[in-house]
Amino acid sequence: MRLLFVGDVVGYIGCAFLWDNLKQIKRDHKVDIIAVNGENSAVGNGITKKSAEHIFNSGADVITTGNHAFKRKECNEVFTMPNILRPINFPEGVQGRGVTVLDLGKVQIAVINLMGISFMEPIDNPFFKIDEVLKTIETPNIFVDFHAEATAEKKSMGYYLAERVTALVGTHTHVQTNDSQILCGHTGYITDIGMTGSEESVIGVEIELAISRQKYHTPVQFKEATEKPFLNAVLIEFDEKTGICTKIQKIIKRN
Ligand SMILES: [Fe+2]
Ligand SMILES: [Fe+2]
Repeated sequence: MRLLFVGDVVGYIGCAFLWDNLKQIKRDHKVDIIAVNGENSAVGNGITKKSAEHIFNSGADVITTGNHAFKRKECNEVFTMPNILRPINFPEGVQGRGVTVLDLGKVQIAVINLMGISFMEPIDNPFFKIDEVLKTIETPNIFVDFHAEATAEKKSMGYYLAERVTALVGTHTHVQTNDSQILCGHTGYITDIGMTGSEESVIGVEIELAISRQKYHTPVQFKEATEKPFLNAVLIEFDEKTGICTKIQKIIKRN
C-alpha cells in the first residue's frame, strides 16, 4: 500500500495549490491514504474549520497539526471533527486527540501526531508518551508525524521507533531534508517533509517581513507569501501485513 504524507500547508496559496494538485498526485502515484499537516492552513496561521474542510475536500484522509494547533478561537470546533489530530503529548485536559485508526476493512492504519520538546513548548516528554501510546495500538501499520524543531531529536525518535512503526516523518521546519531512508530495514524516515505554499518565501512568510524579524529581533506581523507555490511530500510504500516500509520517496510538485 501507499501512504502520501504532505508537509505543512501554509495559508491560502498552500490550500489552493493542494486543491489543484493533490488528486492528480494521488492518481499518478496510486496512493491509498493521504495525511496532510494543516497547522498553518488558515490565513494568518493555525487551522480553522474552513481550512480543515478544504484540506479534506482536496483529498486528505487525516490532518495532523503541531505547535500552531490551538492558535485560533474556533479550535474547539476544529478538534471535535473526525480525523483531525493535535500532538498526543499535550498534557491531560487539552482538547482533541493525537491518534486515529483508519479502518479500511481488511487493513487498519494508525496515524499518530507527536511533538518535540527541544526548542519547543515544554509539553510531555514524547519518548515516554509514545511508549504508552504504542501499547494501545493493534495494527502494525503505524505512521507518526513528529512535529519538531531539532534534527537530533527527530533522528533520535526515528531510531527509538525503528522496527516499532511503519514510518516516522518530521514536520515543522518547512524545509524538506535530503535524508529519506529506511531505518533498521523496517521504518521509513525523513527529518522533515517540507511545506506546501510559496517557495519564494522564508518558510512560507513574505521575505521582507522575515528578514526584518531576523535582522532587528523586534515583533513583526507575518503575512503568507504568495509567489511560486509548491508542494512537498513523501510517498511511503509498505507491506500492510507486516507494517514494514519498503520504500520512501520524496516528492516535490511545482507548476
Ligand atoms: Fe508549520
Ligand atoms: Fe510548527
